[in-house]
Amino acid sequence: MARYTLSTLLAVAAVSSVLAQDSTSTSIEPLASKHFTYPDQIPYQVDPANGVRGPQQGYNLCNSTTENQQSMCQTAFVNHIDDFCLWAPPTPNQTIGDTEGEEVAWCTKAGRGTRLIPAGALQGVQYLKTPDYIQIVGFIDQSQINMAPDDFGGELDPHGADLRGNPLGGLMYSNAFPSNNGNNGSYQQVIEWHNFMGGNAFCMKVCDPAGAHAADYCQHIFDRIGCSYNDPNTAQNGTFEVCDSDDADYPGVYTSNGQVMTYTQPPESLGAITTMPYTARVASSSNCVTYESSALYTDLAAVAGTGSASSSAPTGSVTGTAKSASATGGKSSASRSGSAASASSTGSSSGAEALGISAVSGIIGVTFAMMFLS
Ligand SMILES: *[C@@H]1O[C@H](CO)[C@@H](O)[C@H](O)[C@H]1NC(C)=O
Ligand SMILES: *[C@@H]1O[C@H](CO)[C@@H](O)[C@H](O)[C@H]1NC(C)=O
Ligand SMILES: *[C@@H]1O[C@H](CO)[C@@H](O)[C@H](O)[C@H]1NC(C)=O
Ligand SMILES: *[C@@H]1O[C@H](CO)[C@@H](O)[C@H](O)[C@H]1NC(C)=O
Repeated sequence: MARYTLSTLLAVAAVSSVLAQDSTSTSIEPLASKHFTYPDQIPYQVDPANGVRGPQQGYNLCNSTTENQQSMCQTAFVNHIDDFCLWAPPTPNQTIGDTEGEEVAWCTKAGRGTRLIPAGALQGVQYLKTPDYIQIVGFIDQSQINMAPDDFGGELDPHGADLRGNPLGGLMYSNAFPSNNGNNGSYQQVIEWHNFMGGNAFCMKVCDPAGAHAADYCQHIFDRIGCSYNDPNTAQNGTFEVCDSDDADYPGVYTSNGQVMTYTQPPESLGAITTMPYTARVASSSNCVTYESSALYTDLAAVAGTGSASSSAPTGSVTGTAKSASATGGKSSASRSGSAASASSTGSSSGAEALGISAVSGIIGVTFAMMFLS
C-alpha cells in the first residue's frame, strides 16, 4: 500500500482491481468513494464483497447489542479529546501489519456500539484543532487494545492498494468541523484520514471533508516514516491537552533552502530507512488547555484496565521514547525518528523553523517498521 510511490500505488491498485474482478465479477468501488449519512444510511457492511483480501471482518451497523469488548464494529468517530476511536486488532497480541485489514474501533465514549479503550490505557493525549483537520496524538499501553506489546505497528487509512481500506470497510465520522456548526449530535463522514498505531503511541489525523486539501493533509503514502513526519506534534506522555494549531505542511512536503520539496519514500525492498533529508516542522499552536484524564474518560471506568493508572505520572519526554523505541525496535526500519527528534532539538538544517516552536522535545519520534499489504 502506502509504501509504494504514488505511481506504483496506482499500478498496483489496477492489478488488484483486476484480480478482484476475477474473483467477484464485479469491480470494487473504492472505500473513499462510498458516502453514507450517519446514522440513517449505515449498512450492515459497507464492503461485503469477497475480493482478494476476503470479506470485511466486522460490520458498520453498530448499536447497543454490539456494544461490548468483543464488538466487531468498524464505524469510528473522532470528535474531541474525550471522544475518539483508534483502530486496533480484534483478538489479543496481534501486530498491525498482520491485521491491518481487520482492525476494529476502540473508543473512549460509550453509546455507539464499539469496544471501549480500557481505563488507564491512555497515558497522554494531545488534541489539535487546525483550520483543515483534527490531529490526535498520544501514548497508550497498546497491549490493552490487543496489540502485541512490542509491535511498532503501521498505518491504517481508507485506501490501500486495492482501495478497500485498512481496515476493509472502516468508516470514520466526526462532529468536530465548522460545517457542523458545533452540533455535537450530528456527524459528518470523514473521507480522508490516517491513523498510525505502534510503539505504545498513536497518531490520528482526520481532515475536514469541506477542505480543499483534505487528501493532502491526510496523505496516506508515507506509511514508513511514522508520526513525527505525518503528524508532527508536541504530545507528551502524562499530559492531556487541547490546543488550537495552524495547519502543518502536507506530510512529505518540506522547505529546504527556500525551495519546496516533496519527499519520496523508498520502497521496502531497498531496506530500512536510515536517513531523512528533512525534519518535519511542527505547526505553531496556542490556547492549550490541559485536563485530568479522570475527568475526560468517564465512560472507561467500566472497562477494567490492566495497566498502571492514568494521569498522575508524567514521564520523560517523547524524545526518550523515540530512542528507546528504536533501540528495541529490531525489525526493518525503526531508528529514524530518534535522530529526527534530536535533529530538531539541536536545530540542524531546517531547525530554524522548528526551534521557533516551544515544545520541540515533545515530538513523537516513533517510526513504524511494518509494511502493508503484500
Ligand atoms: C444492531 O447491529 C447488529 C450488527 O450490525 C445488527 O445485526 C442488528 O440488526 C442491529 N439492530 C438494529 C435494531 O438495528
Ligand atoms: C504474543 O505473541 C508472541 C509472538 O507470537 C508470543 O511469543 C507471545 O508469547 C505472545 N504473548 C502472549 C501473552 O500470548
Ligand atoms: C460538544 O462536545 C465537546 C467535547 O465533548 C464539549 O466540550 C462541548 O461543550 C459540546 N458542545 C455542545 C454544544 O454540547
Ligand atoms: C508513558 O508513561 C507511562 C507511565 O509512566 C509509561 O508506563 C509508558 O511506558 C510511557 N510510554 C512511552 C511510550 O514512553
